[in-house]
Amino acid sequence: MAETSPRISVEYIPDMSAEDRKAITRWYREVFNLPSEDMIIPGDYDIRVWEGDQWVSLVEVVQRTILVGGQPVRVGGVGGVSTHPEHRYKGYSAMALREAAHLMFDELNVEFGMLFCAPEMETFYGKLGWQPIHKPFRHLDHETSQPTWDENFMILPSPGSSRQWPDGEVDLNGHGW
Ligand SMILES: CC(C)(COP(=O)(O)OP(=O)(O)OC[C@H]1O[C@@H](n2cnc3c(N)ncnc32)[C@H](O)[C@@H]1OP(=O)(O)O)[C@@H](O)C(=O)NCCC(=O)NCCS
Repeated sequence: MAETSPRISVEYIPDMSAEDRKAITRWYREVFNLPSEDMIIPGDYDIRVWEGDQWVSLVEVVQRTILVGGQPVRVGGVGGVSTHPEHRYKGYSAMALREAAHLMFDELNVEFGMLFCAPEMETFYGKLGWQPIHKPFRHLDHETSQPTWDENFMILPSPGSSRQWPDGEVDLNGHGW
């Protein structure tokens, strides 16, 4: 049988059905191995790649205004990057991340994409234009909501802009994603 070409959907999460939102929570628990008591805070948009009616890859985007050196910077926060284990190395995450860039820069008009990842994943994102920034950032801890610091994040500059990532202390102005 001929392979079906993949299809992409972009959905605004508050408009999704309760059933779809439950399916996404189940996906997160399975792919990221999250314990059932872990709280999952949804972002703003889900980008999903489908093979026929089977959903095989996900990227979530959240719109946020963070502070860098005390100045507001509009970012598209990217998270939840994941592909079903049986469908990896087929270019699906790359496809979803390109669609996320299109959404962030052409629809939401943010200045930068921003994500957090383990150092060993920097090459994966680097292939798609993401740049590592080895600086600390301040955010609220998910469990305690207390201010805390972490190191290292990646940014994706808007293709239409020459703006460099600004200097100064980075404050996510809330929880991470
Ligand atoms: C990481 C992950 C999202 C990759 O998904 P995928 O659909 O297999 O990725 P793609 O097929 O689009 O790969 C794009 C490129 O990255 C490379 N790549 C894929 N997985 C990689 C990995 N784990 N480490 C380094 N490079 C990787 C591919 O070889 C491909 O390179 P190429 O363009 O030179 O051929 C997937 O392995 C996954 O879901 N892992 C578990 C969840 C996770 O760790 N998510 C990342 C959180 S930061």
